[in-house]
Amino acid sequence: MVIAVDGPAASGKGTLARRLAAHYGLPYLDTGLLYRMVARAMRDAGKDIHDAEAATVIVSTFDEKAFAEDSLRGREIGEAASVVAAMPAVRKGLIDRQRRFAGQPGGAVLDGRDIGTVICPEAPAKLFVTATPEVRAARRHKELAGRGELATFDGILADIRRRDARDSGRSDAPLKAAEDADILDTSALTVEEAVAAAIAIVDARRAG
Ligand code: CDP
Repeated sequence: MVIAVDGPAASGKGTLARRLAAHYGLPYLDTGLLYRMVARAMRDAGKDIHDAEAATVIVSTFDEKAFAEDSLRGREIGEAASVVAAMPAVRKGLIDRQRRFAGQPGGAVLDGRDIGTVICPEAPAKLFVTATPEVRAARRHKELAGRGELATFDGILADIRRRDARDSGRSDAPLKAAEDADILDTSALTVEEAVAAAIAIVDARRAG
């Protein structure tokens, strides 16, 4: 079974996708990390993040094993990732490895922005995870503080609004719920409540 989990920044989709993968015994891919790797590789090569030609080369040559996950999770790389993610050549260059992952026998859980709409439109279970910008900013603030990154709540809220606008406004694979997705608003839910709701949604989809 393939489970697609999409949603905006800091909506809780990563936590939910990981928990769903553990619950159903499926492999898990955080597709945001792929875009973050491209952004990181651009930075490491000294390229301007808006240089689409350089990004086109990097997306076909970067080595997934070359990056420590911790070097990808920062605030600045998230922002840079959303810039390269708007480039059609970057999105195209990452499609095959995502579909290969999803095509494993038994299935997989993938989280991102366009899993249910573009990467795995046939997935039997699609969750679109949302929360208000304020709740998402508070979550991201806590996560970054845990990593020792200093940032104000207002600065993070501004980041989130800018990223939402960029991710939803791009012409290629914009962030949006698939027509057959189940929307899960986690604003007022604890992690355990959100996990229980997500499992209930997937079980209902599996039951047909
Ligand atoms: O954790 P957070 O939601 O902040 O970021 P992420 O999921 O790691 O994604 C970083 C950026 O990559 C997003 O803002 C998107 O622009 C882009 N992305 C995408 O376009 N498509 C995906 N399937 C995953 C991420």
